[in-house]
Amino acid sequence: MEVSSTQPKQRWDAELYEARHGFVWHFGESLVELLDPKPGERILDLGCGPGHLTYRIAEHGASVVGLDASPEMIGQARQNFPTVHFVLQDAASMAFDDEFDAVFSNATLHWILDATAVAKAMFSALRKGGRVVAEFGGRGNVRTVETAINAVIEKYSGSPAVSRRFYPSVGQYAAILEGAGFELRFAHLFDRPTPLEGEHGMENWIRQFSGFYFEALPADVRQQALNEAVERVRPTLFRDGEWFADYRRLRIIAVKI
Ligand SMILES: C[S@@+](CC[C@H](N)C(=O)[O-])C[C@H]1O[C@@H](n2cnc3c(N)ncnc32)[C@H](O)[C@@H]1O
Repeated sequence: MEVSSTQPKQRWDAELYEARHGFVWHFGESLVELLDPKPGERILDLGCGPGHLTYRIAEHGASVVGLDASPEMIGQARQNFPTVHFVLQDAASMAFDDEFDAVFSNATLHWILDATAVAKAMFSALRKGGRVVAEFGGRGNVRTVETAINAVIEKYSGSPAVSRRFYPSVGQYAAILEGAGFELRFAHLFDRPTPLEGEHGMENWIRQFSGFYFEALPADVRQQALNEAVERVRPTLFRDGEWFADYRRLRIIAVKI
C-alpha cells in the first residue's frame, strides 16, 4: 500500500479504545519493564493515549510527562489519572531540550509519518546518556488486514487506499535513529498475533485503527465495504472462534551518546 506523503489529521475514539483495545497497553507493560524506570528519573511517554502506561511509569517513582496529539486521548488520560501530568502536543514538533532521562513510546511511532522529525525531537528532548525505549508497528505489520482493506477501498472508490502509517524494517529505522545522532543498542522485529475481543473484534479493530479509509467512501456503502473487508480476512485471522490481528512489532532501545 502506498504511504501518504503528508501527515493527515487523526481522530481517536478514546471511548472505543478504552472499552475494546486495552490489549495495546497490556502488551506495553513488558516494555515498561524494559524501560526499568527509576525513582526520580524524568521520563517522557510519547503518544501516551489514555495514560495507562504513563501511570505505570509514575508508580515506579519516576517523574513522568504523558504527551499526545489527540485532545480526546489527553482528555481521557487526565480523567483516568488526575495526578499525572499530561500535555497535548505533536511529537514531531515538540521542543524539549536536554530535559529527560528517557523517552518511552508504545504503539505510537508508526502513526507519525515524519519519522526523521520525531527522531530528532526525541534526541533533543534527552539529556546526554538518555535512552529511547519504544515499540511500534514494524515492517509487515497487519499486512493481511491492510491488503483486504486495500482491495475493498479500490473496489468501491476506484483508486487504491493510501496508508497513514509507517512500518519500517530494522535497517530503515536504524538509519533514521543513527541519522538523528542515536546509538542503536537493541532492535527486534517480531510477529505478535494479537487476539481481539469478541465476535466483532475485527470490525472494532478496523473501525478504531483504520476507520479513516472508509470515511472517504460514500456513506451508503461504508458499512458494506467494512463487512467485506472483515469477510476477506476471516479465513486467515478467525481461528477457533477468536479473531487475531497479524501484528509485527519493532522494539528498539537507543541511547543519546
Ligand atoms: C495506539 S495509541 C497508543 C497509546 C498508548 N501509548 C498505549 O499504549 O495505550 C497511539 C497514540 O499515538 C498518538 N499519536 C499519533 N500521532 C502522534 C503525534 N504526532 N504526536 C503525539 N501523539 C501521537 C495518538 O493520538 C494515540 O493516542
